[in-house]
Amino acid sequence: MPGTKAPEDAYTAEPFLPAGAGLDELRAAAAACRGCPLHRDATQTVFGTGHPHARVMLVGEQPGDQEDRQGRPFVGPAGKLLDRALAEAGIDPGEAYVTNAVKHFKFTRAEPRKRRIHKAPSLREMTACGPWLAAELALVEPELIVVLGATAGKALLGSAFRVGEVRGAVLEREIHGRPEKLVATVHPSSVLRARDDRERQAAYEGLVADLRVAARELA
Ligand code: URA
Ligand code: SF4
Repeated sequence: MPGTKAPEDAYTAEPFLPAGAGLDELRAAAAACRGCPLHRDATQTVFGTGHPHARVMLVGEQPGDQEDRQGRPFVGPAGKLLDRALAEAGIDPGEAYVTNAVKHFKFTRAEPRKRRIHKAPSLREMTACGPWLAAELALVEPELIVVLGATAGKALLGSAFRVGEVRGAVLEREIHGRPEKLVATVHPSSVLRARDDRERQAAYEGLVADLRVAARELA
């Protein structure tokens, strides 16, 4: 029932998904999603973008400050770092479909100047937003999913997911009843958060190494 107003405690995007929709229709419908409270403070829904039948789907956590303003995933600092790592690993970002587990920016306001600081989405919000990601997967049908960090991993593979345990390996799992191949790695933001240059370089190289596994799988 598209357009139906979800009760405040429903916590699901489900009523907002039009049946039988293509990607463009889904994107338009997602702009009006009220499936959880995150739409209230964010600027806009940030839906996935990219090749509609991309061979690889990259799944991040949620839009950041820049993505929230521009309405497109991974256009801020983490996205720039990701693009560099993808190029180094041999994956053309132009041939990928890029999206997030959660489609609205969650943040707190912090001094100075009430800057908007990213806040991790809750399991409840991830679950509420899941139908959008499931619909994207069903339509794009990528050969490989690249899981960027813990939130994407939990959204796709369950709350027991730990990046450190599975990163850099090709995983084969059933997701929403379909066999999927996945490669998990750290979130590019975690590279930016490293304490010093040495740690940052090591984290970046780890990210590239995992993405090379994905590139080999696509070769
Ligand atoms: N981090 C994410 O997980 N996704 C974005 O789109 C931007 C930053
Ligand atoms: Fe809908 Fe997801 Fe936004 Fe919540 S975060 S309002 S479920 S699009």
